[in-house]
Amino acid sequence: MRIGIPKEIHPGERRVAGTPKTVKKLIEMGFEVVVEEGAGVAAEHYDDMYAQAGASLTADTKAIWGDSDIVLKVHSPQVHPSLGVHEADLIKEGGCLIGFIWPAQNQDILDKLNARNATVLAMDCVPRISRAQKVDALSAMANAAGYRAVIEAVNVYPRFLTGQSTAAGGIKPAKVLVIGAGVAGLAAIGAAKSLGAIVRAFDTRLEVGDQVRSMGAEFLELDFTEDGSGDGGYAKIMSKEFIDAEMKLFAQQAMEVDIIITTALIPGKPAPLLITAGMVESMREGGVIVDLAAQQGGNCALTKADELVIHKGVRIVGYTDLPSRMAIQTSWLYASTLVNMLDEMGGDENFAIDLENDIVRGALVCHAGKTTWPAPQQQHAKAPVASPDQPSLDTATPAVPSAKEKSKLGGIAAMIIITIALLALGRVAPSEFLSHFTVFVLACFVGWQVVWNVTPALHTPLMSVTNAISGIILIGGMLHLGTQAGADTPTDTLALILGTAAVFLAAINISGGFLVTRRMLSMFHR
Ligand code: NAI
Repeated sequence: MRIGIPKEIHPGERRVAGTPKTVKKLIEMGFEVVVEEGAGVAAEHYDDMYAQAGASLTADTKAIWGDSDIVLKVHSPQVHPSLGVHEADLIKEGGCLIGFIWPAQNQDILDKLNARNATVLAMDCVPRISRAQKVDALSAMANAAGYRAVIEAVNVYPRFLTGQSTAAGGIKPAKVLVIGAGVAGLAAIGAAKSLGAIVRAFDTRLEVGDQVRSMGAEFLELDFTEDGSGDGGYAKIMSKEFIDAEMKLFAQQAMEVDIIITTALIPGKPAPLLITAGMVESMREGGVIVDLAAQQGGNCALTKADELVIHKGVRIVGYTDLPSRMAIQTSWLYASTLVNMLDEMGGDENFAIDLENDIVRGALVCHAGKTTWPAPQQQHAKAPVASPDQPSLDTATPAVPSAKEKSKLGGIAAMIIITIALLALGRVAPSEFLSHFTVFVLACFVGWQVVWNVTPALHTPLMSVTNAISGIILIGGMLHLGTQAGADTPTDTLALILGTAAVFLAAINISGGFLVTRRMLSMFHR
């Protein structure tokens, strides 16, 4: 099958839907790839690089669209400025288009594509499920946007971000507030922390609190109980009372922080207005707001999409092309998700639209002349709820012990068996064995209690350090070797061999344990 990669025509777009690296992969998968001349230039991928990767090049835009079985794009189709025709009208009859489509906003484009019987997969509609991470182009772009938001903020922020201690005097680190700790928000937290700022974050989804804290930022909470977690890892629309309460918090924060990065969004809805003009004016001079939701109307009242607004000394950045500003890498990231999508669809040999595949079905917005968006919700089996006039499930079914009750009964039975076994052992075993055995059981119990009380995240460093504790074996082995010097009976020789092995293995364990711990600790050093 032939894949066409046209040059992006959206004003200011630098990304391209295929890089030399991903083109090579597509060719290895069996596809034939045609790239429009100059398609990758803005992302510093030149024509000769594509040719070297095995693609053919053409300057004929119509041929790229009309002769390709599959067209890979970044932006949704639009009117071609030099040809004067809509890209959607150029697609081959029954062809396939994969790219960002935004079906909710682009019904007219879907109609045009349906008129061509096109099969269209929207990368913005890929379901956010763990299996789909490899094709999650939105997250890949949001991650880049969050990072870039901090860089853009720093670019216009007229102060240091990190604290400084100089002979001339001390400088306090800047304070950054991130509103919305989704993919972009978390990336922004990471970038701001690494530049030395004090970072706080707020999100309606309480479940992200731990992620925020684990990145070294403070998670701000309201004295208001309403969790914003919705379906599929996204947020839900909050009550007016909640929004009022959070805006009160932001009003206080605006007076304290230097930079605000807003990423609050519920997919398919206009961005919630969270920062008022009054809050902007309360920020100290030189303050910066980067509004990532600018495209959806903005989280700040003064945001203008694609513009830098300066209002009473506060800069409000509303750029909507943040991933495109890092086009070399974001092109590669995006193009890789496209390769993964094509792989998911069977590659060149088994290419098919499998409606049973949740990733493909989620992204499919047009098929066989019809709009197939939105995809039907994944059905999850729900527990039946008894209505007041129905017999309760408890009375309708015989009582069966729950899993918890079962495990409790099992525990008691195990205790009884162990006690009987220990009593039997105590009657027959020699007293020396019993004293060793008691120490062994106590050591197991104490060790288990210690490990059990350590956070699971720290188990690996704990294990590596406990490896180092095998020093006790080393000492035992060495003492044993000392007593066995000059061994001449076979038993002595066996003991000598065992002692040597103990010393050797324990030494590996100790040095390995320290080495692994060191490596792990260095992961946390900056
Ligand atoms: P996401 O869905 O992962 O994160 C959005 C977060 O906002 C969620 O954690 C959600 O709980 C939170 N949120 C929703 N309503 C809120 C409220 N009222 N108060 C506080 N938090 C709230 O989305 P993602 O992928 O991180 O994208 C974030 C934004 O960045 C979107 O608006 C997206 O369109 C935009 N974006 C902008 C780019 C640009 O160049 N400017 C590029 C890529 C993404």
